[in-house]
Amino acid sequence: MATELPTLPHWQTTPDDLAAATREVKAALKARIAASGRTVEEVFAQVEALVTERVEEIEAELAAGRSAWPEVDYADIAAGTVPAETMALIQRRGCAVVRGHFPREQAQAWDAELVDYVDRNNFFQDYRGPGDDFFSTVGSKPEIYPIYWSGPQMEARQSDEMATVQSFLNSFWRNESDGVQWFDPNRDALYPDRVRRRPPGTNSGGLGHHLDPGTLDLWMTADYQRAFGHLWDGTVEEYSPWDAAHRTAGPQYPGSTMCSAFRTFQGWTALSDMDHDQGVLHAVPIPEAMAYLMLRPLLDDVAEDDMCGVTVGKTFPATERFHSLLLRASAGIPDVRSGDSVWWHCDMIHSVAPVQDQQGWGNVMYIPAAPWCPRNETYAAEVRRAFEAGDSPSDFPAEGYEAQWPDRFATEQLNETGRRGLDLA
Ligand SMILES: [Fe+2]
Repeated sequence: MATELPTLPHWQTTPDDLAAATREVKAALKARIAASGRTVEEVFAQVEALVTERVEEIEAELAAGRSAWPEVDYADIAAGTVPAETMALIQRRGCAVVRGHFPREQAQAWDAELVDYVDRNNFFQDYRGPGDDFFSTVGSKPEIYPIYWSGPQMEARQSDEMATVQSFLNSFWRNESDGVQWFDPNRDALYPDRVRRRPPGTNSGGLGHHLDPGTLDLWMTADYQRAFGHLWDGTVEEYSPWDAAHRTAGPQYPGSTMCSAFRTFQGWTALSDMDHDQGVLHAVPIPEAMAYLMLRPLLDDVAEDDMCGVTVGKTFPATERFHSLLLRASAGIPDVRSGDSVWWHCDMIHSVAPVQDQQGWGNVMYIPAAPWCPRNETYAAEVRRAFEAGDSPSDFPAEGYEAQWPDRFATEQLNETGRRGLDLA
């Protein structure tokens, strides 16, 4: 059937004229849906009905004072004894809190060692201010430490506990279809990211609703057009947010907040206790909402050269104007303790709540699940280079603080998981 539908124009690198490309691809997507015998309104209504049901379910949870985030014990993941209803809930909500992922004392020791590491190396004296606007902070000490290669980060990334949870989370995805293995669920590419340490007393405006899988490339590259093909070819009922087909090899348009890696889940590990009302992470725990976000720009109330505000070089925004239904389901994490970890599907809308006079620390290490696939293998070469040089990885501002630090994590300290993740023989 798909072969009879009109083909889509595509741009494997950022188009020179974004407005013209947007007009062209939107017209082509609408024409393709029409050729499948359906209308954009009909396809969107189908998605809207499903999402509305989920939104109402989550509103009811929140109104009853419950967290919408599934919780799972690390011990159950390690033993293979996660209850079936927990598995089903993680699949439904696209997120999870892993309790006791690391021993509490381990997480607290890592937090203390991170402080020692930056202190020993005069980081605060040398700090030159935020390297990007997205996470910019006011004041002399940053919240986000642009540090990638400390002992604690590398120990966590290459730990058995991290590999076990990453494999568990990857298993929610379909990684094989049409004779292609799209990724290896049991090998992680150790995507290096930063550390956040937010002190008590912080006043923060938070971070707005957004998502991180891409920008205009989601509509404009051949790979993503196939990955989201069910939305455009009249088979929207078959769309699954858990299908990795055509997502793990294609190009991405560069941007200041891009992620070169394919991540099944974004995640972080808590290095301090954080209460649910202290400016914490929120997400819209509906993986299928991605279909809504992708189809919404095709409705008649959006200008022909507008993708609901999505553009290159900026994070994908979720807004009251276009996505108010989805934002009704924005749900905060429950209280977390040092050593717990928090995970959300890579396509899901998330935000950080504002806080006044924060009680306690808010410290995390960002460590996602980035399974081995062509895209992550390509980026792993860059990660290896940055690791060996003590540089910032190329997805991040080129700050390079650790290049001259003698005690950053060394090649000899890599275990087998670490070597596999960096593709070292
Ligand atoms: Fe984000």
